[in-house]
Amino acid sequence: MCGIIGYSGKKDIANIIIEGLQSLEYRGYDSAGMALAGPYNLDIYKKSGKVSVLKEFYKKRVLEASSFTDKNSPEIGKNLSHNTGGDSSKKGISKNANNKLICSGIGHTRWATHGIASDINAHPHFSNSSNIAIVHNGIIENYNELKNFLLGEGYIFKSQTDTEIFVNFIEYNIRKIGDNEVDDIVFALKVALKKIKGQYAILLLFKNHPEILIGAKKNAPLVVGRTLVENKSNESMPEKGMFIKTKKGVQSQNYEYFVASDILPLAQYVNEVRFLNDNEIFLIKSNNIKIFSLDESVITDFKFYPIDIKKENISKNGYDSYMLKEIFEQPISIKKCIKDKIDNKSNLFCLKTLDPILQDIFSAERIIILSCGTSLNAAIYGKYIIEKYCNIPVSIEQASEFRYRNPLVRNKDLFIGISQSGETADTLKALEYVKENYNAKIISISNAKNSTITRLADVNLDICAGLEIGVASTKAFTNQLMTLIIFNFWLMQKTSTTGANLSVLPERISKVSDTIDIISFLNSFSSAISKVLANSDKIQKVALFISKFKSALFLGRDTLFPIALEGALKLKEISYIHAEGYSAAEMKHGPIALIDKNMPVITLIGNTKFLKKNLSSIEEISARNGKIITIGTVGNLEVKALSKYCIDIDFSDCFKPSMDGFITKASFTHNKEKQNSETYSSSFTEKFNENCTPGLGTIQDDFLIPITTTVVIQLLAYHTAIYKKCDVDKPRNLAKSVTVE
Ligand code: F6R
Repeated sequence: MCGIIGYSGKKDIANIIIEGLQSLEYRGYDSAGMALAGPYNLDIYKKSGKVSVLKEFYKKRVLEASSFTDKNSPEIGKNLSHNTGGDSSKKGISKNANNKLICSGIGHTRWATHGIASDINAHPHFSNSSNIAIVHNGIIENYNELKNFLLGEGYIFKSQTDTEIFVNFIEYNIRKIGDNEVDDIVFALKVALKKIKGQYAILLLFKNHPEILIGAKKNAPLVVGRTLVENKSNESMPEKGMFIKTKKGVQSQNYEYFVASDILPLAQYVNEVRFLNDNEIFLIKSNNIKIFSLDESVITDFKFYPIDIKKENISKNGYDSYMLKEIFEQPISIKKCIKDKIDNKSNLFCLKTLDPILQDIFSAERIIILSCGTSLNAAIYGKYIIEKYCNIPVSIEQASEFRYRNPLVRNKDLFIGISQSGETADTLKALEYVKENYNAKIISISNAKNSTITRLADVNLDICAGLEIGVASTKAFTNQLMTLIIFNFWLMQKTSTTGANLSVLPERISKVSDTIDIISFLNSFSSAISKVLANSDKIQKVALFISKFKSALFLGRDTLFPIALEGALKLKEISYIHAEGYSAAEMKHGPIALIDKNMPVITLIGNTKFLKKNLSSIEEISARNGKIITIGTVGNLEVKALSKYCIDIDFSDCFKPSMDGFITKASFTHNKEKQNSETYSSSFTEKFNENCTPGLGTIQDDFLIPITTTVVIQLLAYHTAIYKKCDVDKPRNLAKSVTVE
């Protein structure tokens, strides 16, 4: 989705903006542009296509400009040489003691919403006078109304974008108030923003004030980063009101500021960030920042937080793509996720961040999970696990649907929002709706500390996947699954170790040693993922086969059903092969009509739990000449005989004999209703064995099999996309964080 970058300082502005745009590429975009404000002019460069196209275009303009005399093109030549590494003295620019002046630049990667992807529609956009340049993420809902108003005022529009209307509406308000003083600009901006309906994160440059950079946000992310610069004695002092509080007291600090729509492009430049809140405006001027709220005046008590993204995490580390690197990082990311959630001293599950709402968690009678896309698939897995082991009802909701369908929310509902980016507009809007309308507590499960979702929720569970740059989510998904497993065990542990009075949770973990047992089991699990990764080339062969087809079907049962959905999602988003995920049983209720010799059907059979039922599905597919690919423990000869390919997985690390004692001895004593309506007297082991083919071993709990299977479907999608020569890191039309509804 659209990305924003901004800089104000004395460095090579064009270079910084282009580098920033390159690091925003992972978000997905179809055009790119930048505006540079120098002492002589405010210039815009923009192109549809990749940032590399913009870079070449800019270089060409610089060359052309430097071959002109000052007489031919006085403004372009002078401005381009400023802070771009050019020799400014030749162009007659007066230098200050540091050789450079403070100038500002903004950049944008656009993902078309209003108007096609074209040079004209690309950002930045000028106001009619060319005095203001804007970049904008979001959607202005009352753009038609504003456009008609501005047309009446004599404004004209060159592009099809809502952003051009936005910048002219700002200009209209500034014209009324004047722009001699920067304070007037801020005031006029406030007036304009109060009349804007919709979402925005904007950056603005001003021809008459090249030293300032202004930004504002509402319902779209914007992060300001800063780093200390050397405080030379002849530096200009910050203006009144632009003092920064430090531990030593109030004193002036010389900072250099960078702004972006997410932390990633800032990571290489800054060590502290502040996420702007909705309805805030910032003004960066002379190495200092002021933050205003739309309603009140200056905000004085804002803080910057250190960021922990290391520069090396941004590299591909020798892999061909971020996606492949991130798939291979999973043994480590899973371990980090587990480590983060275990207390070293007691060796028990420890989700300290949930402490502030413990009572609400314990008294919850239902959990409602809101999320989108891959995170929604993780949520379905969470439902299966939590309902199975904790005996508490879990509802899964597509976040985009939730708030528009008059949902029934009850008193003791506990909400979980899952979003790896923490910035998905659909999820945020749904959670905001919950917050505004119900007195319910919200847990966010996210991969981005300090992201909007973590600030919106009451408490946050960090999935600890580390930076994920590939647009198709991989390691964040498996860490979401692991986080949900641990959340589940933590709930179970709480009931036994604290005697917490839970309304519906069963006391399944009867003693501390059970928890220690399961933790040591989880700690050794990453080797199961490593074994799958070691078989990447075998999976590659199957991918070559799949790459020849136009459609594919993924089938799975129980906890492998969400993995079937995820397999189809991964395949379609990066290889553009149409794919659907179904519960294996659902196949006969419709999708079976599609099965013929041109339909590969990827069946996730897991271990032997549903072997008989899976076998029936496989028979049905085979009878219709479908091409069967089975993933799981494929020791069964009948399965082998019917499959075109079998991807065998060694699930030995997904089980532990003592798990049998730990999980399966549970009895459903707390859920009377369920006990009465169904006979759950048998242990899990007994139930599983009912479905087991004799001779294939004892069935034990299998909550980790979906994670192991996920790694196979990720590699399958990855290799298929590579065979189809697709750009796996930047699949078409997709964005890493979808910040519009
Ligand atoms: C697919 C993918 C998307 C996201 C979805 C929600 O690989 O990444 O389906 O899962 O856009 O994103 P988050 O989790 O950031 O809310």
